[in-house]
Amino acid sequence: MQKISQKLGEHYSETFKQFGSTSEGVDWGSDEAKLHLRYRKMLAVMDNHPSTPVRARPSLLDVGCGFGGLLQYANNMGLDFDYTGIDVAQNMIDWAASAHPEGRFFCQDFLDFEPEKNFDYVVCNGILTQKLDTPGREMDDYAQKLIRGMFEVCRSGVAFNAMTTRVNFFSDNLYYRDPLGLAAWCIAELTPHFRIDHAYPLYEYTIYLLKEPR
Ligand SMILES: C[S@@+](CC[C@H](N)C(=O)[O-])C[C@H]1O[C@@H](n2cnc3c(N)ncnc32)[C@H](O)[C@@H]1O
Repeated sequence: MQKISQKLGEHYSETFKQFGSTSEGVDWGSDEAKLHLRYRKMLAVMDNHPSTPVRARPSLLDVGCGFGGLLQYANNMGLDFDYTGIDVAQNMIDWAASAHPEGRFFCQDFLDFEPEKNFDYVVCNGILTQKLDTPGREMDDYAQKLIRGMFEVCRSGVAFNAMTTRVNFFSDNLYYRDPLGLAAWCIAELTPHFRIDHAYPLYEYTIYLLKEPR
């Protein structure tokens, strides 16, 4: 397992131990509505597909799935897809697997994950938002490896978020990444078909990387 993944896993294991299956349990603060907004932004990767839906029951991989909150949210919204979650924190994966027998869960570093088949959609809500004490440059490399890996295992689209640099206050433990710089990297290295949503009222943005134009 990568050192950064291990540190993040240990951190989120502790928050889950303390706060359970809540927004605070995945260290997103106490406002559940904000967490739901983030889930909505992740699931928007399925919008406007040229041949919607991709298939009757599309597959979705949730990278850094935590306790499976995205699956719970999707169930509440009446959305149906073939869900797989992966997370490095064993306690959250154990909880998710028993709460959601309809999903498939793996306790593993995504950077070591070799799935048998690709997924229509891949989402990542919150791995690229907190760096703890990792130096920024190391976190940049880690972020790029993670984004490249997600794009490789997706058939249709990837969604992920990061903290924006367009803020007037910076916390040492958070990972801020210039949205235009990251978009430029994605276009140069991965795909020209992308969207960026920097318009919602949180200090972050979501990037959507698509295999084909929509
Ligand atoms: C902020 S939490 C978000 C959890 C979930 N996505 C949600 O929003 O409810 C980030 C999660 O990513 C996990 N994580 C961090 N790096 C990872 C990696 N390389 N592979 C798999 N999981 C990872 C952490 O253990 C943590 O549970």
